[in-house]
Amino acid sequence: MRTFKVSKVNIGLADFRTPDFSDSGLPTTIMKYDKEIIRRKTFAIISHPDAGKTTLTEKFLLFGGAIQTAGAVKSNKIKKHATSDFMEIERQRGISVATSVMSFEYKGFLINLLDTPGHKDFAEDTYRTLTAVDSVVLVVDSVNGVEEQTRRLMEVCRMRDTPVIVFINKMDRDGKNPFDLLEEIENELKIQLHPMTWPINSGKDFKGVYNLHDKSLLLFIANQKATDEDILDMKELSVEKLNELIGEKDAVQLQEDAELIEGVYGELKITDYLNGKTAPLFFGSALNNFGVKELLDVFIRVAPAPLCRETSVREICPQEENLSGFIFKIHANLDPKHRDRIAFMRVCSGKFERNSWYHHVRLNKDLRFSNPYSFMASSKDIIEDAYPGDVVGLFDTGNFKIGDTLTEGENFYFTGIPSFSPELFKELVNKDPMKTKQLEKGIRQLTDEGVAQLFSQFGGTKKIIGCVGELQFEVIQYRLLHEYGAACEFRTLPFYKACWLTSKEPKKLEDFLRYKQQNSAEDKDGHPVYLAQSEWFLNTEIKNNPDIEFHFTSEIHKQQ
Ligand code: G4P
Repeated sequence: MRTFKVSKVNIGLADFRTPDFSDSGLPTTIMKYDKEIIRRKTFAIISHPDAGKTTLTEKFLLFGGAIQTAGAVKSNKIKKHATSDFMEIERQRGISVATSVMSFEYKGFLINLLDTPGHKDFAEDTYRTLTAVDSVVLVVDSVNGVEEQTRRLMEVCRMRDTPVIVFINKMDRDGKNPFDLLEEIENELKIQLHPMTWPINSGKDFKGVYNLHDKSLLLFIANQKATDEDILDMKELSVEKLNELIGEKDAVQLQEDAELIEGVYGELKITDYLNGKTAPLFFGSALNNFGVKELLDVFIRVAPAPLCRETSVREICPQEENLSGFIFKIHANLDPKHRDRIAFMRVCSGKFERNSWYHHVRLNKDLRFSNPYSFMASSKDIIEDAYPGDVVGLFDTGNFKIGDTLTEGENFYFTGIPSFSPELFKELVNKDPMKTKQLEKGIRQLTDEGVAQLFSQFGGTKKIIGCVGELQFEVIQYRLLHEYGAACEFRTLPFYKACWLTSKEPKKLEDFLRYKQQNSAEDKDGHPVYLAQSEWFLNTEIKNNPDIEFHFTSEIHKQQ
């Protein structure tokens, strides 16, 4: 029997199974603890809006048994036409609390999937969420290829060397040629790809994907969800049978493509993936549940378990006995009458326990949590404990802001939780002087939540709000009025970027700020900031002031 030629490619995935601790001779308590860490995978699915993030999330949850029916996960994106529909925003906020973290089990692994907002105006929220994950799955639409948000999200991943897996979605639609897509993604996202599956055509001619690792073929049948029985072992498949299944032309093409891919890409080096240099690549159709299981099965084998993290003092590793974690997201509660909020803490080391006292480093204060939440798909439950990689929802009455650290007494904070420059700047104008206090409290709390950034004019009283998108201003205006009873409006300012300033010569910095008063401000923590009108002005100032350093991100927490 003539068979499809299958060359040997060692992808080395076997090395990445869960280690077996049973014979390790470690004390039982440590064994249990390490097992908890090593079985956790904390990641986010990211994409340009509409590429299929929500659909893929839902398919993952279905595989994990966390939901039973399709349609259970609601997209948290705010549709374009609903820009000023605040009821919609409120509703969306409610949904995104419940789906902020979705935990599910799959083949013995505990997977924490962190949701990211779909709307580009909330991109900053997404960037912060990326500080709390250990890896990401990036979804690219096969028709649109690399889009604006894909580029920016990937930039954030590159800053942190986050391991990335790429899923090219919507292969059931007439998309770009897969080789062209490969080139586009590699060039535009500046990451080396490593195809794990390869498609046979796309759109109405889409016939399935060939799994380059398992040497198996998954045939696509339109409007029919693929199951395990649909996977064919290519080693057992005769050329005649393959010709019959996909047609001789496509069978020949597949053989050529597979040889070419294997010749060019060879072996996937897991360390390159873990260092964020190479991204395993999959093709499929989330809507048709096609190619998703292949992705998930490789994900659980290669994606990193919770990693060590840098702090202001030393590296903290998950295995350490003492609890540590940081707040990466704060969500206002749905009930506007009560200003309680949920602070999302990523556990980085040790074991979090309900009702234990923990040290809030910035406030130098001990706190205890009687109702910590965990999140399972669409519900939230009170938990007794949590391990590194987990996200715990902490009931907050105003103690937390983004970047805050909890420990068991040690004083440090986690680094690498930057604040990026806003893109739109407006002056906050108080419309009701009787409510000045409420406005100030409201804007302070909303900016603690990370809804926007607040700057104060240098040497003046002007309050400047910086956002990524227009929608954020509308949300702020609405929430200030409804939650704090404070009416405000915004006056557009001619700035395009904020740069945080440092200098080894404080006098020079002081002179610069005074001289450039119209463009100088302080951020919420009192750090000096230069507000540039345009790239030209910014470059000129950088050139003219060699003793001052202009930074494009700020590490939150420098005040400590
Ligand atoms: P997002 O979260 O990244 O914004 O994307 P989402 O999953 O909401 O998907 C955006 C649209 O693309 C949805 O259609 C969804 O059904 C569709 N889609 C997702 N995966 C695939 C796929 O593999 N093939 C095809 N052909 N379409 C796909 P919609 O009409 O905007 O929303 P809906 O009415 O279907 O919910």
